Amino acid sequence: MHQDVEQILYTEEDLRRRISELGAQIAADYAGRMPMLVSVLRGSYIFMADLTRAIDLDLTVDFMAVSSYGSGTVSSGQVEIKKDLSDSIEGRDLIIVEDILDSGNTLYYLMDVLRARKPASIRICTLMDKPERRAKPITADYVGFTIPDAFIVGYGLDYAEKYRNLPYVGVLKPSVYAK
Ligand code: IMP
Ligand code: MG
Repeated sequence: MHQDVEQILYTEEDLRRRISELGAQIAADYAGRMPMLVSVLRGSYIFMADLTRAIDLDLTVDFMAVSSYGSGTVSSGQVEIKKDLSDSIEGRDLIIVEDILDSGNTLYYLMDVLRARKPASIRICTLMDKPERRAKPITADYVGFTIPDAFIVGYGLDYAEKYRNLPYVGVLKPSVYAK
């Protein structure tokens, strides 16, 4: 275990098992359609790679990057599009793939931007949900794990851009961000 991690919340095996359930559920819900999975970079890149391989359906992928955090642990509510989608989403069935839904500020803003482009439907799939901290009325349609209010890293999730490469999800020691 990394020295900055206090506790492992989900092991590689936990993640693999839950993501294959999510993939099966999405494949059943979208049977006969070809959804477009939109990954919100950078935190969701590993989840996106594993989730798409767990969905036994034709689908397309696209990527978008937004910033809300800087290097702190509290979302600002100010969201900026750093990289936009490559393709049109008009008439498509979108599934937004997020690493973690926290205050909801990021997705609240993003949903507005994407709805204006006239997709046929939009659903949200988040690996982690921290409902205790919600500041905006956003709920995910697919949730990997509901977690208490702790700052977590690994499996794509960062603190100050570090720890994304940990294969598990762990709680970051508070001493790391108190410094
Ligand atoms: P929101 O706008 O507050 O919902 O924040 C969403 C984004 O904040 C996520 O996509 C993450 O990038 C980041 N975030 C929120 N909580 C955590 C955490 O516990 N660890 C790492 N990143 C987090
Ligand atoms: Mg993110």
